[in-house]
Amino acid sequence: AASHPAHEFCAAGGDAGCGGGGDGARILIKGGTVVNAHRAEEADVYIEDGVVVAVRPNIPVGDDNVRVIDATGKYVMPGGIDPHTHLAMEFMGTVTIDDFFSGHVAALAGGTTMHIDFVIPVNGNLTAGLESYKQKAANAAMDYGFHMAITKWNDEVAREMEVMVKEHGINSFKFFMAYKGSLMVTDDLLLQGLQKCKSLGALAMVHAENGDAVAEGQQQMIDLGITGPEGHALSRPPILEGEATARAIRLAKFINTPLYVVHVMSVDAMEEIAKAKREGQRVIGEPVVSGLVLDDSWLWNPDFTIASKYVMSPPIREAGHSKALQAALSSGILQLVGTDHCTFNSTQKAFGSDDFRKIPNGVNGLEERMHIIWDSMVETGKISVTDYVRVTSTECAKIFNIYPRKGAILEGSDADIIILNPERSFVMGAHTHHSRSNTNVYEGRKGKGMVEVTISRGRMVWEDGVLNIAPGSGRYVRMPPFGYIFDGIEKSDAAYRASLRAPVQRGKAAA
Ligand code: URP
Ligand code: ZN
Ligand code: ZN
Ligand code: ZN
Repeated sequence: AASHPAHEFCAAGGDAGCGGGGDGARILIKGGTVVNAHRAEEADVYIEDGVVVAVRPNIPVGDDNVRVIDATGKYVMPGGIDPHTHLAMEFMGTVTIDDFFSGHVAALAGGTTMHIDFVIPVNGNLTAGLESYKQKAANAAMDYGFHMAITKWNDEVAREMEVMVKEHGINSFKFFMAYKGSLMVTDDLLLQGLQKCKSLGALAMVHAENGDAVAEGQQQMIDLGITGPEGHALSRPPILEGEATARAIRLAKFINTPLYVVHVMSVDAMEEIAKAKREGQRVIGEPVVSGLVLDDSWLWNPDFTIASKYVMSPPIREAGHSKALQAALSSGILQLVGTDHCTFNSTQKAFGSDDFRKIPNGVNGLEERMHIIWDSMVETGKISVTDYVRVTSTECAKIFNIYPRKGAILEGSDADIIILNPERSFVMGAHTHHSRSNTNVYEGRKGKGMVEVTISRGRMVWEDGVLNIAPGSGRYVRMPPFGYIFDGIEKSDAAYRASLRAPVQRGKAAA
């Protein structure tokens, strides 16, 4: 144990099997099917110093210091990357119950090895927000990156955005079009923000709901005497998500900058994205696990503790939306899967026991995402194993410009790897999960496919139900600006400018 002083969570007090030492650990994964987004192949994977050194068939076992893992009959895949989480977030008068440690334990047990969390500015100040999130992440047990929310606008914010991109490795900013009175931005701010994002090569993200109309809808429900969790869904119907999605898409088109729509929960929003994509616009749609597999009937459950678990925004929709979102994911209209992991326990949810407006918004999913997407999409034949890797890992790494260091099992990639046994089954619930929450929106859910091994930058952190986690071992991953999605924007701007001086040609192009 002497060599693992910091490993409070070592399975056997830091025995020889402990991979927590990280650097120097050598692992050979033999006999599995290695899946990358571009292909699946029978191959072995050799890892040294936290990095993938070789991927090819029949790598010979070297010396005794190499840990050999038999992956026969199993899938060896890049660890999941969750593009959307809220760990230790102050929100709606409380703080999410999972922090950067418990959230990471849950993630690693579920086969996710990196996530991107949203820094919330402090009184609109980005630098203070980043400082606060750095502290929150001090006990990180896996790699993470940051998006940053923009909640107010002035010259100082614009300057800070530049500093965030150029000095702090942040390449995406989120604008909340809902949460009136707290996080919500105006169209004016959104336009300024889109413009600034474009100039910095940073991706603009939106929470797309019409916040003014939501406030109105909430008042209507209260006036009708509907104060329970069902009032949450009734007060902010899909049309308000569709409207804001369409508006954000059009404003992004006007500025000519790429747009990322987070937590696409409805057919209404998805159709707006589909339409924009058909017209050639660069729009990315992110469904989340809850939206892909749940429906809103839970919100009518007479037990408040059960019903309130499902309160998130935009709301989980009535049956039908989830199937359409799954289809959109299989056909590429939606591109990558997040969770919006934002957990509150039943005591916190009870803040809204007599008024749905006070129920902290958010559901779990960080631990469940990889299993649920495998079971509901791959096991059912809706997507291929390569597409599974794409939507759970590779696409995120590409969009946020950290591929192929992340999101792939290639020579030189970080050794963030999972081994999934397609024959084993799982049952989910609060009694077995690793989140600190005492509830789980997937309580009792059963399915096929089990992540038996998780390797985080070369460390065996999860093996057959045993965790071996080193708090503080997670690294901050800097994400550079001008990812692939910006490639060509300058050319299309130049073509547009040229067209302004040639009205006749412009007319021809349109005809
Ligand atoms: O209900 C949700 N989604 N809570 C987290 C904050 C957000 O809007 O992403
Ligand atoms: Zn150790
Ligand atoms: Zn949101
Ligand atoms: Zn969120």
